[in-house]
Amino acid sequence: MPAFKPPFIPSSEITPKGLYLGRRHFMAGAGAIGLAGIAPPALAALNAKKTDYVVGDTITPKEDATTYNNFYEFGTGKGDPAAYSGDFKPFPWKIKVDGMVAKPMEFDVEELIATLPLEERVYRFRCVEAWSMVLPWTGFMLSDLLQKVEPLGSAKYVDFRTAVRPDQMPGVNYPILEWPYREGLRLDEAMHPLTLMAVGIYGDKLPNQNGAPIRLVLPWKYGFKSIKSIETITLTDTQPQTSWNMAAANEYGFYSNVNPERDHPRWSQASERVLGTGGGFFGGGDRRDTEMFNGYGEQVASLYAGMDLIENY
Ligand code: MTE
Repeated sequence: MPAFKPPFIPSSEITPKGLYLGRRHFMAGAGAIGLAGIAPPALAALNAKKTDYVVGDTITPKEDATTYNNFYEFGTGKGDPAAYSGDFKPFPWKIKVDGMVAKPMEFDVEELIATLPLEERVYRFRCVEAWSMVLPWTGFMLSDLLQKVEPLGSAKYVDFRTAVRPDQMPGVNYPILEWPYREGLRLDEAMHPLTLMAVGIYGDKLPNQNGAPIRLVLPWKYGFKSIKSIETITLTDTQPQTSWNMAAANEYGFYSNVNPERDHPRWSQASERVLGTGGGFFGGGDRRDTEMFNGYGEQVASLYAGMDLIENY
């Protein structure tokens, strides 16, 4: 993997314009982060360290990021996950990491959070539906978790699956997608330092609708790759199936890197609506031009050197 250059605006260089919220949040993140709600006393004392991973735009209001969601296990409407995830119990939670590894393991998520270095990172998040947000996540690098299980040389891909709980997730009682929701990455994408396992947002634990207790966040890929409420992670030598590719292969490929030059068959990907800047569920607000790899090209473009990214969408 190429040497990683801190991409974004180091905290020391943050200018006031448009960054007030980000900076303020940053400072809060430097102290005890509000993960206390997770429960065990051990977690209450956790600190999320300051990070250089900060994108320099105004942070999306929490109200928008927690009420306008895609989480089909709770329904297909944007308001459904907030409305219908109240019965979902994210703790206690076990996450299994197995497959082509020397040491397959099952982790209790609360214990895992206590043992891995947490960071707060402000990432731009671009949905395939051509809207975007800027969100402060708390999490750890997926690479830190994968190193614990010691991937074998034969492992080439990582397969992720969400829990299926018909009694707590009303949407899985309907054949909207083939459950469990599943996603996949190449192993080098999974090991990339930008690849975050998020356990918190806005300095607090993840609300159910945002993927409690643990989810992926992949800032250079369309939002659907950022799988929520992960239960199993399996290393494999074959390219995993992914939910959206299974549902509509001509629309959603395996890579799903943000690419303004490759339109979705039914709409343009050249620009995006900035969530939280006015308008409502049906549009409006500010627009911005979509950037290749969602602006993270300096960090990730080398992962795809020599690949045709129109073909490999
Ligand atoms: N993960 C699961 N398990 N189920 C889903 O329906 N939706 C995806 C992704 N992860 C989804 C999921 C899509 S389409 C997007 S855009 C993001 O979650 C939305 O994350 P957010 O609601 O926290 O913004």
